[in-house]
Order: sequence, then C-alpha cells, then structure tokens
Amino acid sequence: MTAEPVIVINGVSRLYPVSSGSFAALSDIELTIAAGEFSGLVGPSGSGKTTLLNLIGSLDAPTSGEIIVLGQKVQELDARGAARLRRDQLGFIFQTYNLLPVYTVFENVEFPLLLLQMERQKRRDAVMDILERVGLADRAGSRPAQLSGGECQRVAIARAMVKHPSLVLADEPTANLDADNSHRILQTMLTLNRDLGTTFLFATHDDKVIQYLRRVIVLFDGRIAQDEVRDETAVSAGTPGGYF
Ligand SMILES: Nc1ncnc2c1ncn2[C@@H]1O[C@H](COP(=O)(O)OP(=O)(O)O)[C@@H](O)[C@H]1O
Ligand SMILES: [Mg+2]
Repeated sequence: MTAEPVIVINGVSRLYPVSSGSFAALSDIELTIAAGEFSGLVGPSGSGKTTLLNLIGSLDAPTSGEIIVLGQKVQELDARGAARLRRDQLGFIFQTYNLLPVYTVFENVEFPLLLLQMERQKRRDAVMDILERVGLADRAGSRPAQLSGGECQRVAIARAMVKHPSLVLADEPTANLDADNSHRILQTMLTLNRDLGTTFLFATHDDKVIQYLRRVIVLFDGRIAQDEVRDETAVSAGTPGGYF
C-alpha cells in the first residue's frame, strides 16, 4: 500500500505586487513529497525557497494553484483550521531560533504541548525524551542566553519535534552555525527522521545541509529547475553540492 503523500502541490504560483505590476516569486510549481522523506528546497538566495515553505506551512496563500498538506487543502482552511493544522501536525525550525528568552530550555520545549493541552506528567516525559535525543537533557534548567548557538538550535529542533509532528519545515536551520554544529544538527534530524518516521523539508543554500539530503529539489527564479533523488551511498559519502 502506498501511503498518502504528505505534501501535494499542483500548479502553484505566488505573485507579489510591485510598482511595475507583479513579480512571480513562484511559477507553476508541481511537487509531491511522500511520508518519511528527508528532502530540501535548494537554490540561490531569492529563488523562492522561503515563499514555498511558507505556503506549505499555511503561513501564506498561493495566488493560484492548489496545496494539499496531510490530506487537507490548505486554501479551504480558515484561520482557525490553519492554526490547528500547524499546532497538531507541523513543526517549524527557523534560521533564528525564536526561543523565548525568559523561559528555560524545558519551558521552551514544553510550550507546544501546553497548546495541545497535554497533561503535566505526559508533558514532562515528552520534553525530557526529546531533550535526551538532542543531547540537552542536562541543560533543561538553563535559559537560552546561557547556551551556544548550536545548543539553541538543538532546543529549537526539540521544540519542533516534541509533539512528534508528521512534517517538519526547516528554513535555513544552519545559517547561524559553524560547521561542527551544522553537522551535529543534521545528524540529529536524520536520526529523528529514521527513528520516528518524521518527514523533513528544508529550505537551504548551505552545502553542509545539502550533502545530507535524500532528495534535492532545485529552485531557480521561482521554478523547479531540477529534482534529484539520491542514493544512500552518495549521501553518506557527503556528496558535494554544486547545484548552483
Ligand atoms: N512580501 C514580498 N513582497 C515582494 N517580494 C517578495 C516578498 N517576499 C519575497 N519576495 C521576493 O520573492 C523572491 C523569493 O523570495 P524568497 O522566497 O524569500 O527566496 P529564498 O528563500 O529562496 O531566498 C525574492 O525575489 C524576494 O525578493
Ligand atoms: Mg529564504
């Protein structure tokens, strides 16, 4: 049995009004992402990666075309329905970690579970389990200002993963990290992908990320220029990017 795709994008365009008329940040995108993929939107700055990720995350709406996420037509959702989809099924990881500075690591990671109204002991177990997985269980009581950039990004990963979402969207998650931390973060996400079956979709122009991707979807000027599924050996050997 083939599982239902996690993301289906049919003929999607996103136009932005500009003084001379309109500018197409995305044109005629066709894309299907299956459950359990570890893939990335890759391309130079301005190619439309963030725009596409935001459409998939229902943070923005397409000008035309159709987006189906986990069986739900995103355009048919009202604001509450879109919020519910994000709360229940999606995890977001951003370039800037967006941690709440006055809260501890534990409280930052616990936050999505409060929104889900999970009971206290279950919350505690889930938070400590995911902190264990990202190697930060011993920092549960620290505040973000006491952590390195790499540790903050691991907290952000834990926060995105704590509810075991079906789909994680990660926009330039390594932009503020050095090479060592980037590799550690990617290894963590790959392990979560393997252990929990979580689907990951990245937006990145970082070769350090690209070498981990199982599928590389290259955007150029708002269009898909290349879509390549790579075999395991190429990925584990750390194939260099060279896509643009
Ligand atoms: N709100 C907006 N208004 C006008 N143009 C925008 C807006 N957001 C993005 N763009 C333009 O759309 C293009 C794609 O942007 P983006 O998706 O952020 O690219 P990427 O993430 O690949 O760097 C860029 O040329 C950008 O300037
Ligand atoms: Mg971007």
